[in-house]
Amino acid sequence: MYISQDEERIYQGERGESLRRAMEILVALGDIFDAEKLVSIKSAQIAGVSFKNIGDAGLEWISDLEGKVVVPAILNPAGMDLLRWKEMKINESFAGKQKATIDAYRRLGIEIDCTCTPYQIYPDIAGPGDHLAWSESSAVSYANSVIGARTNREGGPSALAAALIGKTPYFGYHLDRNRIPTHCIRVKADLKDSDFGALGFLVGGMVKDGVPLFRLQRRPTPDELKSLGAAMAASGSVALYYVEEVTPTPPAAFGKMENSKLEKISIDRKQVDEVYEKYPGTDAEIVALGCPHCSLSELNSIAELLDGKKVKKQLWVCTARKIANAHPELVERIERSGAKVICDTCMVVSPASERYRKMMVNSGKALAYIPGLCGIKAGFGSTKECIKAVTWSD
Ligand code: F3S
Repeated sequence: MYISQDEERIYQGERGESLRRAMEILVALGDIFDAEKLVSIKSAQIAGVSFKNIGDAGLEWISDLEGKVVVPAILNPAGMDLLRWKEMKINESFAGKQKATIDAYRRLGIEIDCTCTPYQIYPDIAGPGDHLAWSESSAVSYANSVIGARTNREGGPSALAAALIGKTPYFGYHLDRNRIPTHCIRVKADLKDSDFGALGFLVGGMVKDGVPLFRLQRRPTPDELKSLGAAMAASGSVALYYVEEVTPTPPAAFGKMENSKLEKISIDRKQVDEVYEKYPGTDAEIVALGCPHCSLSELNSIAELLDGKKVKKQLWVCTARKIANAHPELVERIERSGAKVICDTCMVVSPASERYRKMMVNSGKALAYIPGLCGIKAGFGSTKECIKAVTWSD
């Protein structure tokens, strides 16, 4: 990979050891993937925050770094609600390490908004055509597909390195040639709500790391697109998709391709329904909503469904702290039922989930990840079914 004289000086350590290490990571990545050069980024979103995932070695690595990030950078969810961790029954030792991890990131100038949906709280963090270095797979999918920005699925260290240098290697989804659709998915059903998570769960497994182009019967909401992309990134490794007449369009080169070159897949209602049937959830001891983190509109729908009801098992509603803080009346309305609005973390990256035997979710991504990453069973239902499974009427 070509590096400029200034970048070379950083690489040689003239601007300190931390920047040298950061540049070393970017150059190694660029060389492996045959990047032409580094490209400036608008923002970074950094995974590797939950102490459950990074452990002592990760904490030590982050703590050793010095300096400040040079672009807006925000964190992925941590392993606990940073304020209500005792209510989540997180032990003191884990909480201490988690707080030390957050402090280490804070010293580097990173915003302590631990969320997988940065675009819901900072609308300017990414725009069409912007190059980014984002880590969280659902956020990567949303940025590439719905916003029309350009990011690879970064690891935690490479996103942090990019935030410190302000650049990332120019390869993969930064290039037009890797943004051409590979599959055409015709959906012969009118989908809504968690159906999009089920659709993503199915299609991710079919297309793996392909670039699907969807033909849908109805225009999905931003939350439904968020859910679709998140599920495909988890059951497969889809980082970019298109929805005809909804999302930004593929690069011009695609127009020259014959549509017939795309691999065709057709999905009907029965296939979507089979996801619900295969993973029943009503026997779960806990329901968790908000994967990816709930938007304001999702919180409103959940509040409406909970009005006049009481929770008989555990119900977690995960969202970004900024959204919860900006709408205390909504949080209060949800919690009146006995549900908990949990911030800074989620059902997958927190060790708190491991106390249960089975969790019910309305998210295709959580359905794909919970068994492997939390070691518990997962059931799937619509938001309405999830709430019905854990509540009774006043
Ligand atoms: Fe976000 Fe956790 Fe799901 S990071 S996308 S809520 S697994």
